[in-house]
Amino acid sequence: MGIPPERFETLAVHAGRADLTELGVHAPPIDLSSTSPLPDIERGGDSYESMAGGGRPLPDGGAVYQRLWNPTVARFESALADLEQAEASVAFASGMAATTAAILATTGGGDRRHVVAVRPLYGGTDHLLASGLLGVEATFCGPAEVADALAARPDTALVILETPANPTLDLVDIAGVVRQAGPVPVMVDNTFATPVLQNPLTLGAAMVLHSATKYLGGHGDVVGGVIACDETTAEALRRVRAITGALMHPLAGYLLHRGLATLPTRVRAQQETARELAGRLARHPAVERVFYPDLDSAVLADGRTGSLRHQMRGPGAMISLALQGGYDAAKRLTSSLSLFTHAVSLGGVDSLVQHPAALTHRPVAPEARPSANVVRLSVGLEHVDDLAADLETALAPDATGPAFPEQAPTVLPLAAHAAGPAPVS
Ligand SMILES: Cc1ncc(COP(=O)(O)O)c(C=O)c1O
Repeated sequence: MGIPPERFETLAVHAGRADLTELGVHAPPIDLSSTSPLPDIERGGDSYESMAGGGRPLPDGGAVYQRLWNPTVARFESALADLEQAEASVAFASGMAATTAAILATTGGGDRRHVVAVRPLYGGTDHLLASGLLGVEATFCGPAEVADALAARPDTALVILETPANPTLDLVDIAGVVRQAGPVPVMVDNTFATPVLQNPLTLGAAMVLHSATKYLGGHGDVVGGVIACDETTAEALRRVRAITGALMHPLAGYLLHRGLATLPTRVRAQQETARELAGRLARHPAVERVFYPDLDSAVLADGRTGSLRHQMRGPGAMISLALQGGYDAAKRLTSSLSLFTHAVSLGGVDSLVQHPAALTHRPVAPEARPSANVVRLSVGLEHVDDLAADLETALAPDATGPAFPEQAPTVLPLAAHAAGPAPVS
């Protein structure tokens, strides 16, 4: 649309709404039709043909079937594409469905069936790649080792990275990895940063992935995934979506589109509170280490330390803590907080706390799993002093709370990954 990306707030409110006036409505309609009336066999068939190949419905041919196209989801896709400065975006049933589609779209049908993945990653992404479930092999490496990993495997179809990474908030130098990747497409998981703070396509990434379940929705009531990219890649992704059926439900599309309008305001307010809490927690005697992005001294892809301010416009609202006192301290904290709900997921208006080694990163290989004394905080929109008081009380040496599982998290052997439990977010 005609609004420049630097007017992000205006774009967030107005994107994806171009057809509303013509429809005579102010709020986007929720179109639940599973099927659409067809004008005639030829035009319906041509429209089907277009969408089955990853294209759009033909103007006079109808949308045919919800697995191929849905106007409510398409409005969200158009809005998210604008926010990520992309030509297009494609929405899926979940973030994991989106990751699966990206892997299938880049590796499917050819002899390039290898992915390079920069760790750390969300446990579910790590699990999907390590499991070999999609018939794809993966090499896990650090950001400075991408070139070597690619040289060792010329059959690589995709490089995946996440920044800030879940759960230790490591920053990865996107442009540095893109340089190493050369012609191989790089997909960046932008879930933690959101398009408010970071636009990886402007740094050379080919695809930007979001677990829309998190900040894009923002209210903990919708599951979805989305990938922003160019139109050619979008066609390949839509084709996979149509074939595999990993489509987003229209109600989710509606809620996510609505969530975008407040995204900049939410993310900036949550970030301010997180910045303040990270500072206070760094001085707390019960805290061994605070993981919170430092944009001025990030490890760049060439191994040097430098600024990533050109990449990211702020540190975001996720904090992880390594606690003095090991797993027992983590267990005590998660069950002693009251404003922070002990629950997986993140990015909503209310604060959450969870234990990555036991939950989100449970199926990750032991050498890459977060330590047992690490907890992850998703900072919401509550008053900073209330959240600080909640943390202060729960970190006090005599804090007690409702029972958490007695034993330390089970360490799953690597061989068990393929059959292991699906990770939660
Ligand atoms: C960074 C990141 N990427 C991807 C996912 C997967 O998204 P979903 O749970 O929507 O499938 C998650 C889930 O927590 C995540 O945190």
